[in-house]
Amino acid sequence: MKLTIIGTGYVGLVTGTCFAEVGHQVICVDNNESKVKLLQSGGIPIYEPGLEELVKKNVAAGRLRFTASTKDGVENSDIIFIAVPTPPLPDGAVDLSFIEGVAREIAASMTSYKIVVDKSTVPVKTGDKVAETIKRYCKAKVEFDVVSNPEFLREGFAVEDLMKPDRVVIGVRSQRPVAAMKEVYTPFNAPIIVTDINSAELIKHAANSFLALKISYINAISVICEASGANVQEVANGIGLDARIGRRFLDAGLGFGGSCFPKDLSAFIKISDQLGYDFALLKEVQRINAQQMERFFKKITETLWVLKDKKIGVLGLAFKQNTDDVRSSPAIDLCQRLQKEGAILRVHDPKAMDKAKDVLKNVTYVENMNDVADGCDALVVATEWPEFKKLDLERTRKALTHPILFDGRNLFDLLEMEKLGFIYKSVGR
Ligand code: UDX
Repeated sequence: MKLTIIGTGYVGLVTGTCFAEVGHQVICVDNNESKVKLLQSGGIPIYEPGLEELVKKNVAAGRLRFTASTKDGVENSDIIFIAVPTPPLPDGAVDLSFIEGVAREIAASMTSYKIVVDKSTVPVKTGDKVAETIKRYCKAKVEFDVVSNPEFLREGFAVEDLMKPDRVVIGVRSQRPVAAMKEVYTPFNAPIIVTDINSAELIKHAANSFLALKISYINAISVICEASGANVQEVANGIGLDARIGRRFLDAGLGFGGSCFPKDLSAFIKISDQLGYDFALLKEVQRINAQQMERFFKKITETLWVLKDKKIGVLGLAFKQNTDDVRSSPAIDLCQRLQKEGAILRVHDPKAMDKAKDVLKNVTYVENMNDVADGCDALVVATEWPEFKKLDLERTRKALTHPILFDGRNLFDLLEMEKLGFIYKSVGR
């Protein structure tokens, strides 16, 4: 099928590439010309496992190309996916100006029937507004359908999530676009759910809020564990084996971050409010998340007391493993708090150091994770990168002036750390 994706961020670039991989003819559009030039010359603006190879392969096969012209994309495809950012406004509502702008651009270039699909995370009822906008700005007055098709990919696992989705949600206002949308997704062999547009839009906010709620729930349990001498990982394993609950997203730690959960929670609370419902449950999810960071920071200050001029090593800057994304990263937040108290930081991340340099200044960036602890008063683990489990603990203990390790992601074994002689403080155990 001939497909265009507008917006080459995490969602747009990976979606376009995976569509090409299964045999569709794909045009990726972005209004950032330097990004388009980079992609055209074989560069990839983000780190995402497996993406670079797939982009190269599909460009070489002639199934994937990049352009800065929306007109080019619209004229040469049947289905146009919108995958532009929907950032938060200061009051937590969603800024839909990029969606509106793209809808107008698409409308201006349409000369025959098109299916316009929203992939970005948007408030319920946005589909109606997109349809109104296209109708208003399409001079050619051609027919079109608006579809909602939310994306559920996780950064760091985006290619895997795209190629093997748990489900595909297609929200429509009429049956006309259904067959074509199903054809797009048939190669992915996933269950396809066809709903009305409002339900499809709600599914995305409801899913992300539920996952955030699951994390805050286990973080609240971690507080009870610490107060009672229980172990949150044992509790998570015990409740997670109940198939109705499931073990995933029950890892206690520094709380959730990233460009989705915090923003989507705020947006969903705001949307609910506008619809006349006070979603207090989700406000509590936010509160627990903020407190989790406070509590961890307090653990550090209670142990080290005065932070001024203390040298602290930090492992992890990305908001989670397998990504170079530092947006709303709890790790960066923690570093900035430590700096504010006068601590001197030596930091390392396997992939996110370049991006961190824009937001985290006056720290020493260390290339090898085993060198971070050198001369430090304590070491902090802030991101759940699996490679940190391979840290040379003997070397680290000797490199620290005092063998203190704060583990915000529960990566290490309690008994082993004790045996090695660490003063080891983790979360909920
Ligand atoms: C999320 C959703 O998972 C995805 O479906 C949606 O499309 C976009 O938002 P993402 O933000 O990429 O994806 O990351 P995710 O893996 O969900 O992690 C989000 C945050 O939660 C991270 O900061 C992570 O460290 C934290 N987390 C996750 C926990 O603290 N504990 C867990 O058990 C799981």
